[in-house]
Parts: sequence; C-alpha cells; structure tokens
Amino acid sequence: MSDETKSIHEFNFDLICEYFSAIERQGPGSPEMTLKALGFIDNLNAGSRIADLGCGTGGQTMTLAQNTSGSITGIDLFPAFIDLFNANARSLGLDDRVKGIAGSMDDIPFEEGELDLIWSEGAIYNIGFEKGLRYWHKFLKPGGFVAVTEASWFTEERPEEIETFWHDAYPAIDTIPRKLDVLQKAGYIPVACFILPESCWTEHYYKPQAKAREVFLEKHMGNAMAEELVENERREAVLYDRYREYYGYVFYIGRKI
Ligand SMILES: C[S@@+](CC[C@H](N)C(=O)[O-])C[C@H]1O[C@@H](n2cnc3c(N)ncnc32)[C@H](O)[C@@H]1O
Repeated sequence: MSDETKSIHEFNFDLICEYFSAIERQGPGSPEMTLKALGFIDNLNAGSRIADLGCGTGGQTMTLAQNTSGSITGIDLFPAFIDLFNANARSLGLDDRVKGIAGSMDDIPFEEGELDLIWSEGAIYNIGFEKGLRYWHKFLKPGGFVAVTEASWFTEERPEEIETFWHDAYPAIDTIPRKLDVLQKAGYIPVACFILPESCWTEHYYKPQAKAREVFLEKHMGNAMAEELVENERREAVLYDRYREYYGYVFYIGRKI
C-alpha cells in the first residue's frame, strides 16, 4: 500500500467513525433478533464471561447485558466507538460488568478456555467467517457458544449486479448450507441459524442513516471524501432494496464440541 493510499484510508477511518457514531447500530440487526439468538444459549449465569467482538458503540451489547447476568467485554478496532460504548454502559448503569476495550478480533486478550460465549454481530467478516470461528474456538470453554451474524446468499444463482457487488465487498459470502458446513468443520455443533428480517436492514440500519446523513453532509459540505462515503452507503441501500430476496444477514449459533 502506498503512503498516499494509507493516508486516504486513515482519513476515511475518521469520517467512517463519525458517520456511524451518530447511529445506534453500525450494522443490520435489532434488539429482538439479539434476544432471539440469546434464547438458544443455555449455559449462562452470573459468573459467565462473554466477549462481543466488533462491538461498535454497543447497541447489541447493551441488549445482551440487560438480559444476562455475567460480565461482558466488548472489543472494537475503533477507539472512538469504544469511548461511546463505555459511555453507553455508564449511562445504563451497566459499567460494573460491561467494559469496552480497543483491539482487534484477530488478537483477543483472553485465556484459552476462559469464555462461555463469543458474540459478534455484523463484524466477523472483517477477518473472515472461517478464520474467526477457527481462531476464537480455543478461547471458549468446552460447551461454550459462538453467536455471529454473517452476510449470506439465499439462492444458488443471483443477478450479475449483486453478485459483482458482493464479489468486491466480501467474496467469502456464501449460501447458508455452506456457512453451516464451515461452522461445523471449525469445531462447533450448529445449534441454530435464522435469517434476520428485512426490518433489521430497513428500520434499524438504513432509516437511521438517512437522518444522520443530512447532518453529516451539512457539516462536511464540499468534502469529496465525505460525499463519497455517503454515496457508497446510499448505493448499498439501493442495492439492498433491489436484491433483498437474494441475500441478507444470518445468525449462526454454534456450541463448542
Ligand atoms: C458493521 S459494524 C457492526 C458493529 C456492531 N456489532 C453492530 O452490529 O452494530 C463492524 C464493526 O467491526 C469493527 N471492526 C472492524 N475490524 C475489526 C477488527 N479487526 N477487530 C475488531 N473490530 C473490528 C468496526 O470498527 C465496526 O464497529
């Protein structure tokens, strides 16, 4: 990567952070679906250790915390998200057992066999579904759970436009049976999987962005990077609207063997 490219990426990081900090969630999902996934997990108590990897500002983490009694460590690459995460935990009175730390999900600060549950909504793609599942496995206790959402194809064949978009964005996107195969081969019993409803994208993700965009664009008027970022997000929303029957996010829940 050239220095020039690197500096553009760094600049983008700040803008991306600012843009997504203004909304409750940084990816598709909802409190109802977080709770639905949690309903499949039956090993938790007040002594449980939970990690939420790629937690963002903690939308789903706070739902988890309000419905479990153990302690939760949120990890995200962006320190600005972690500052908001910790402020959210404080304002909800959860900071005695919910802590956010900046770090990467491919180098996590836990002991082998320490965790009862690893959670990750809309984030494992950053290191790849297979790599993440295989690497995180050793940090779980035997019988511990992993619960992640992952972009997945709903059909074997797709229109070229959406195929090309995902090939560029995340070539590891695959069908649900093939994702389950990866989960199983990584050492987990596939306990459940379900497709997130469209409202997780429209109501909980794209709609809040539409409002935040106006404020963001006004603040960064004339900034080509900011305008490009907004345009990318808009295009993503348009593609989702057009091709929503072909792909979406799927919750995959596995138990460590
Ligand atoms: C699509 S957002 C999802 C955030 C949150 N889980 C949610 O559902 O609202 C993906 C998150 O992964 C974080 N991220 C990207 N690469 C990461 C890495 N290597 N380790 C930890 N977090 C990472 C991003 O900063 C971002 O907060």
